[in-house]
Amino acid sequence: MKKTTLGWSDVTPKHLWLNRRAVLAGAGAALLAGPATAKLTYSPSSFSTTEEPNSFEDITSYNNFYEFGTGKEDPARNAGALTTDPWSIVIDGLVDRPGTYDIADVVKDQPLEERIYRFRCVEAWSMIIPWIGFELSGLLNRVGVQPGAKYVAFETLVRPDEMVGQQSPILDWPYREGLRLDEAMNPLTILATGLYGEEMPKQNGAPIRLVVPWKYGFKSIKSIVRISLVAEEPPTTWNMLQPSEYGFYANVNPTVDHPRWSQATERRVGSGLFGGRQDTLMFNGYEAEVASLYAGMDLAKFY
Ligand code: MTE
Repeated sequence: MKKTTLGWSDVTPKHLWLNRRAVLAGAGAALLAGPATAKLTYSPSSFSTTEEPNSFEDITSYNNFYEFGTGKEDPARNAGALTTDPWSIVIDGLVDRPGTYDIADVVKDQPLEERIYRFRCVEAWSMIIPWIGFELSGLLNRVGVQPGAKYVAFETLVRPDEMVGQQSPILDWPYREGLRLDEAMNPLTILATGLYGEEMPKQNGAPIRLVVPWKYGFKSIKSIVRISLVAEEPPTTWNMLQPSEYGFYANVNPTVDHPRWSQATERRVGSGLFGGRQDTLMFNGYEAEVASLYAGMDLAKFY
């Protein structure tokens, strides 16, 4: 595909957007933490939960990223092999300005925020994660969504040389996910480029991944290389694999069980063997922000 240039043409030097060890110093300001660090400006967000975040260690050592293996420790062990620079994202389908965009262009001028979100995996564990990211709507508005677009489809890269899990057909690669357009435009939906103030660790989906906090974690696709605006509901990895267990919507819902286990409670990772089991909240606690998206829908049917 022909490379097109957005209006925001001049590429931000990488050291200006990499957020290594940036220190949050109030809204709109960040301090340099030392000579090897980069200046990053990110703000706190009113969407953040006040719950205590999980440790950096928990967040980066207990992962699902099947491209690097199916075990929870496999991503931390194997993701180092992934080349994340250079990185570009194809944006295509029903958009005014399709093209292959360098990641520096994708993030340029998008206001970075720290979003401390609840993150609930379909496997009934949860974490609190301080993401750094920007609203997906900011990017979609910039490329110009055409009226016929009703859904957004996302793909992770396919690179079996670097992603050992892709050497086996455990999933139908590439990993694919999708959102309805109104879900994608909701201000809670972000593209995250870091966590704990640092650029995204590879096991968490470097250099850029989706985060949709009211949905089960599998919707939050990692290491994105393609974003397509489409008219029909796109095929998605887990739904293709086992539609009776993983719906397209995948909204966190304690009243609709997974066929093989309850979704009523969750284990907070890092809270020890005996503590930490807690009730799962409707829409993962984001009901006030998102329930209206599903007004009139039978959530037992559209799970
Ligand atoms: N994205 C890709 N490309 N491959 C995956 O295997 N796993 C999903 C999601 N995104 C996955 C993915 C699942 S099941 C979960 S729970 C979250 O990533 C885990 O995100 P985390 O490891 O950053 O906590």
